Amino acid sequence: MLKTLLRVKPVEPAAHVDAGEPVEGSLQGEATLKRTLTARHLVLLGMGAVIGAGIFVITGQAAANHAGPAIMLSFVLAGLACAFAGLCYAEFAAMMPVSGSAYSYSYATLGEGMAWFIGWCLVLEYLFASSSVAVGWSAYLLSFLTSTLHLPFPDALTAAPIAWENGQFIASGKLFNLPAVLIIAVVSGLLYVGVTQSTFVNAIIVAVKVAVICLFVGFGAMYVTPENWTPFIPDNTTGVFGQFGWSGVFRAASIVFFAYIGFDAVSTAAGETKDPQRNMPIGLLGSLAVCTIIYIVVCAVMTGLMHYTKLGTDKPVATALEAYANLAWLKTWVEIGAIAGLSSVILVMMMGQTRIAYTISRDGLLPRIFGKVHPKFRTPHLSTVIVGAVAATLAGLVPLNVLGELVAMGTLLAFATVCVGVLILRRTRAEMPRPFRVPAVWLVAPLGALICLTLFAMAFAAHWLVFVLWNVLGVAIYLGYGMRHSKLNKSV
Ligand code: ALA
Repeated sequence: MLKTLLRVKPVEPAAHVDAGEPVEGSLQGEATLKRTLTARHLVLLGMGAVIGAGIFVITGQAAANHAGPAIMLSFVLAGLACAFAGLCYAEFAAMMPVSGSAYSYSYATLGEGMAWFIGWCLVLEYLFASSSVAVGWSAYLLSFLTSTLHLPFPDALTAAPIAWENGQFIASGKLFNLPAVLIIAVVSGLLYVGVTQSTFVNAIIVAVKVAVICLFVGFGAMYVTPENWTPFIPDNTTGVFGQFGWSGVFRAASIVFFAYIGFDAVSTAAGETKDPQRNMPIGLLGSLAVCTIIYIVVCAVMTGLMHYTKLGTDKPVATALEAYANLAWLKTWVEIGAIAGLSSVILVMMMGQTRIAYTISRDGLLPRIFGKVHPKFRTPHLSTVIVGAVAATLAGLVPLNVLGELVAMGTLLAFATVCVGVLILRRTRAEMPRPFRVPAVWLVAPLGALICLTLFAMAFAAHWLVFVLWNVLGVAIYLGYGMRHSKLNKSV
């Protein structure tokens, strides 16, 4: 049993691959994914997945309750943790350009048991992020339709039938969340017909949201009142950890970490990327750098426009503009930008989920249906349908406000594993060519793992039960299916 859990998938240096060439795990004559993506596509995919609810929704609460204007520092700290992990991702993704991301890297270094565990954590990240961001998208859309455009919408179709309030489930009096289901259906349809079409739509959405952010920064900057930035780090007057002061800056960093989730989804497109050895590091690190700069600038303008104590709403970027009659037009654009922004997060997260399932299935740990590729569209079409159906059901029927930190927990464990995996592979396969190497790896990788595990421990303390139950389900699936069907069974 232990031998099975620890067996690693042999990793060989990847040949240079380009458009149209076969990809991992393909059988003779079988359709495989198509290599069409360039570095520009990848940076846009990263920005598509990253810029969303993190900046448009949760920043306000983090600034109002924990960090004040120093929310900018919280973004720097969270960005630093992601940069360490991002460097390690870049080394792996260039060396092993496959679609399985942290799952595949763990399989090559830490063994099948750990790989399955991390794969299951990635499901927590991608599937639940798609569903919970769809619920956030629905809230933004409904507010835009009913408050800004004054259009009617049936109340029964605006939320899940149950709600989670004050530690218990209650009936909400609604039927289901129709907009959330619809956005997942549309995104699934797009992913079904092709990665090129999906990345094209993603590029348009990213252009809209970045344009809106530029408008916000450009026009907002003219109205900034510098006094709003003092005190920069408000004093912790209550003595409670995390309520302002430096502890507040750290607490807010663990909250806004959510805003960076998704840059790792770029690595799941490695199987569809041209010249991945060059393009993967650019895509991963480029999108991370651009997003970090955008976040810090947006936070500077937001907290400069309105005193942080008034930003604790679910739409802080729009709220910051409320005091300025001249900028009322911009508020509408910010809402449009948020709706666009959240939809590309759903798109790239769902794409990531289907690619992870594809790779796990090709290794035999999930049923073959997840690894089937459409003969014409060259996408994992059946996996897309299944993932879409599950994500839509979750988004339509389940109150997802409890799941944000679970998404972050899955991500943090994956990041920590990638940091550890890089070190292991440097020892076990020192001779393998590495198109990209983490600089000062013996410092960067352990620090990355340490920060991610610390943030994970904070969230685990609050949500350990759901996390443990989720993994019990994962272990049951592995013991009941994966262990017996693993492709590695044939090679022993
Ligand atoms: N980073 C993504 C967002 O902020 C998950 O919505």
